[in-house]
Amino acid sequence: MRTLVADHPLVTHKLTHLRDVTTDRATFRTLADELVTLLAYEATREIRVTDVTVTTPVAEAAGARLAVPRPLIVPVLRAGIGMLDGMTRLLPMADVGFVGMVRDEDSLQASTYADRLPADLTGREVFVLDPMLATGGTLVTVISMLARRGAASVTAICLLAAPEGLARLEEAFPSDEVRVVSGTVDERLNSKGYIVPGLGDAGDRLFGAV
Ligand code: URA
Repeated sequence: MRTLVADHPLVTHKLTHLRDVTTDRATFRTLADELVTLLAYEATREIRVTDVTVTTPVAEAAGARLAVPRPLIVPVLRAGIGMLDGMTRLLPMADVGFVGMVRDEDSLQASTYADRLPADLTGREVFVLDPMLATGGTLVTVISMLARRGAASVTAICLLAAPEGLARLEEAFPSDEVRVVSGTVDERLNSKGYIVPGLGDAGDRLFGAV
């Protein structure tokens, strides 16, 4: 697995505001959306393109278009939905699939409650959206599902990551075809599996407590 941590003052500025417990929901949503677009720019650096030539009013120009099959974006329900608009703004032609994962708050085990993904992902580049890479259980499950269906590469985009989660993913996916792009790496997980200092429950801050 390859890990890319955004090292950009704008990302740090927006993450700092996002973490603040006094940041209201509307601002939290806007910041999450803006952060994804910044991270997506890095995450799509290796996206496959096909060489093309277009005719400008002046001459022929060599360029590139996104290759077919189109990329697939997979927000992990529920919190990943808060990242979807920011990602599709950059990749409006991408397909979108959904995976619903819920974490048992005692065992911290993730289980799947929804799977709306294409059955065959052969050759597809997949971008998974999950704001918090905590224990890594959710992403191990989702990336394994995508790999079993033939995905050519999987890039997970996270706002925050814990070292424990990154280590778990590295162990599960030694291949370079799995990448994580994160806004930053925090200190650790607490006993409840929350990222410290983190930002609390991303789903609750985006959508309210369930
Ligand atoms: N999920 C969250 O929403 N926050 C955490 O800190 C960890 C997992």
